[in-house]
Amino acid sequence: MLDTLSPIPTLTHAAKLLSWYDRHHRELPWRVSPSAAKAGKRADPYHVWLSEVMLQQTTVQAVKPYFAKFLDRWPSVTDLAAAPSDDVMAAWAGLGYYARARNLKKCAEAVATDHDGMFPDTEDGLRALPGIGDYTSAAVAAIAFNRPSAVMDGNVERVISRLYAIDAPLPGSKPVMKARVRELTPTDRPGDFAQAMMDLGATICTPKRPACALCPFRDDCLALAEHEPERFPVKAPKKEKPVRVGAAFVAITENGDILLRRRIETGLLGGMTEVPTTAWTARIDGGTDVEHAPFVAEWEPCGVITHVFTHFELRLSVFRTRVAFGGEPEGWWVPVEKLDNEALPTVMKKVISQAIPTAFAKH
Ligand code: ADE
Repeated sequence: MLDTLSPIPTLTHAAKLLSWYDRHHRELPWRVSPSAAKAGKRADPYHVWLSEVMLQQTTVQAVKPYFAKFLDRWPSVTDLAAAPSDDVMAAWAGLGYYARARNLKKCAEAVATDHDGMFPDTEDGLRALPGIGDYTSAAVAAIAFNRPSAVMDGNVERVISRLYAIDAPLPGSKPVMKARVRELTPTDRPGDFAQAMMDLGATICTPKRPACALCPFRDDCLALAEHEPERFPVKAPKKEKPVRVGAAFVAITENGDILLRRRIETGLLGGMTEVPTTAWTARIDGGTDVEHAPFVAEWEPCGVITHVFTHFELRLSVFRTRVAFGGEPEGWWVPVEKLDNEALPTVMKKVISQAIPTAFAKH
């Protein structure tokens, strides 16, 4: 009489994933645990938004101390809105992609002045804020307001492309992947679902050597069935990055002060602090020599640093000189031990460390 038995109900993908998340979620400072979320506790939208902006292009480990520092200094979005821009840029220094910090401040101001300090609670409302794009609006709507938005970042792309063995290469396959995420996203616990997809991508469905035996989708995953999860996501071949060259000049006074200046507001690293540099040119015979120094002195070469930006690789020849006094040149002088208070991007920390290896050793 087997045929009269009702079929064993199969769990949906979302149910499998959420049950995995209940047991294996990561504890993160901006996150409400699934048990607390089930009891109705919601994450603070300010915390969610801040963490999501910081996490774009940056790892969880790198973000944690910055997140703590920001909340310590600016406990609410209105505090951040009222903060001097220079303080925000200096606190952001080291996280990279500095346009994010400028937009962060603009967005905080818009929330404070146009929304009474409360984040809008829909994806569309959030996307209308300055600096908030498709990813952040979907993530904040889902995580902070439990909206069933389709949230897709790099981790989620990897999970989806494997689950469905999507052969079309990224970035062209993004819309197909997003449609799959939309189909999978449940109306119950969509915020936990979004975070679970990210955690799965970060801890199990990793780029290399994924732990498929532990995956809640192991019976459903088409890439695993084909025995080649690592082949996904398929990516369009990367263009080689062009190289740009230049020179950077570290001037140090007898008292140990360093000459700094401010980059122009617009463009790469706009408004951030730097030591004097030449322009960064794609010409291999570009300004990498002392003739381009900010003033005449005995400039001693101390090697080359490289730094990879999104669109090019930069090689800077570093020169150093000792000067008798902190005089004329445009800019300001800062004691080496106070460099941490400056909005120095990572590339500039590399330059200064090349000239003064102990500059960023903890004092
Ligand atoms: N990466 C980016 N946002 C995240 C989040 N909310 N949880 C886990 N990993 C993330």
